[in-house]
Amino acid sequence: MKPTLDLLTAWATEAGELIARLRGDQLVLDYKPGNELVTNADVAADQLITDHIRRHFPTHQILAEESASKLQDIADLNGPLWIIDPIDGTVNYAHGHSHVAVSIAFYEHGVPQLGVVNAPFQQETFSAERGKGAWLNGQPIQPNKVAVMKNALVGTGFPYDKVPELPLLLARLETVLRNCADIRRNGSAALDICWVACGRLSAYYETVSLWDCAAAQLIATEAGAHYGHIWPPLNGLPTSMASENLLVTNPYLFDELQTLLAEQ
Ligand code: IPD
Ligand code: CA
Ligand code: CA
Repeated sequence: MKPTLDLLTAWATEAGELIARLRGDQLVLDYKPGNELVTNADVAADQLITDHIRRHFPTHQILAEESASKLQDIADLNGPLWIIDPIDGTVNYAHGHSHVAVSIAFYEHGVPQLGVVNAPFQQETFSAERGKGAWLNGQPIQPNKVAVMKNALVGTGFPYDKVPELPLLLARLETVLRNCADIRRNGSAALDICWVACGRLSAYYETVSLWDCAAAQLIATEAGAHYGHIWPPLNGLPTSMASENLLVTNPYLFDELQTLLAEQ
């Protein structure tokens, strides 16, 4: 048996329904080192998805934020690899916002083959299969056609611990505010990238973890967005595994925005 998009969609939907059910008076908040919020729903959704994977594909590798978050030697993992963010947008989730997603990616040969990002409170499922296309609730998606930087709506986000990177974060913000139409900080990197893929944002940049962007990366590239980095990835990581200094744009803005952001 091989993983299929239907299987990933079913598991992401089931996890989305679980986190929607758990929000409310069953919610338990906790903090990881670095003041990073985690809830009982993050852990429960992680367990639900990783249990499914282990039962169906016991030999496959898993990288999952809450249960198997080691990134070392990930570039060597050419075999079947699952990359899971059980809740992307935990801060939104815990505050009752709707911009929240479950993200499941399946990689082989170091590149994503299947990706699903399910937003349970928005009843939207983004999905993609390598070489076959990208969809929102089953309909094909494409990026917008904004070709002039001053008309571009740009998404970004910030790390939990903002202090060490503050000068760089502020310099990049200033550049975007000077050159683009406006900025959004919506609180889910996976959805930000999917929103570039479907034309709701013209561009997105941020340094994140691989589970934030693994599934959305395939959705963006299959939709026809330009997915890359502000600076070349560190340690020679391939684009598909490198999650620092991400830059995702519609087909028109990548080079110009990359130059602007790399100057900071
Ligand atoms: C976070 C979200 C947020 C981004 C942070 C991520 P989490 O993921 O994607 O938008 O700005 O960098 O850590 O913690 O909610 O899974
Ligand atoms: Ca995340
Ligand atoms: Ca998460």
